[in-house]
Amino acid sequence: MANQIKIAPSILAADFTKLGEQIAQAEQAGADWLHFDVMDGRFVPNISMGLPVLRSIKRVATVPIDVHLMIVEPERYVAEFAKAGASSISVHIEASPHLHRTLTLIKDSGCRVGVAINPHTPASFLSEILHLLDIINVMTVNPGFGGQSFLEFTTSKISELRSMASSIGKDIDIEVDGGINVTTAPIAVEAGANVLIAGTTIFSHEQSIKQGIDELRAAATR
Ligand code: DX5
Ligand code: ZN
Repeated sequence: MANQIKIAPSILAADFTKLGEQIAQAEQAGADWLHFDVMDGRFVPNISMGLPVLRSIKRVATVPIDVHLMIVEPERYVAEFAKAGASSISVHIEASPHLHRTLTLIKDSGCRVGVAINPHTPASFLSEILHLLDIINVMTVNPGFGGQSFLEFTTSKISELRSMASSIGKDIDIEVDGGINVTTAPIAVEAGANVLIAGTTIFSHEQSIKQGIDELRAAATR
């Protein structure tokens, strides 16, 4: 079982004027991965960041960078994000009519293979490709913005995906993404998530990034 809890600060919520500094603080506080959100203004309403920012981060990061592509036609960019420093790449099932082909591309690029799934999309849509996955990103908000509230109804899907993975003997990293804080993290972990992605809770913590991470880890492992 992938029961070691990992914390992946989402740099979308970082202060971009001090990105290097904030990444170093997060890593010193024990961040396991960094989560990197790419938004195109098409698949999601918002536009975030892309390849040049990833290349810069790659120069300073010492932990794996988990790239979350919230873009249409993600297959067009897999190789470039891999080259720019992604350790894992997740594409949205809703943006990928030829998902199997895209997952093969990710694997061939040398990255860990991930699929992200929107709140309304059933777990069963992943059943035929589950054996190919290293990561499932269960969206616990509608993708596109940081700072939204956790959608409680996604909890049962986390459990369902964890049982589906166990039933084929796969130790898949199940991420939760959106609205993760000290209250919602234990709910997600209890349901079967082992990777907590958090932006606001960590980077907008009123004391420090370290405290944000410490509190989240304490809540999740309590
Ligand atoms: C939302 C992104 C998330 C976002 C989470 O579309 O995929 O990774 O940064 O932000 P918080 O933790 O603030 O909800
Ligand atoms: Zn994300």
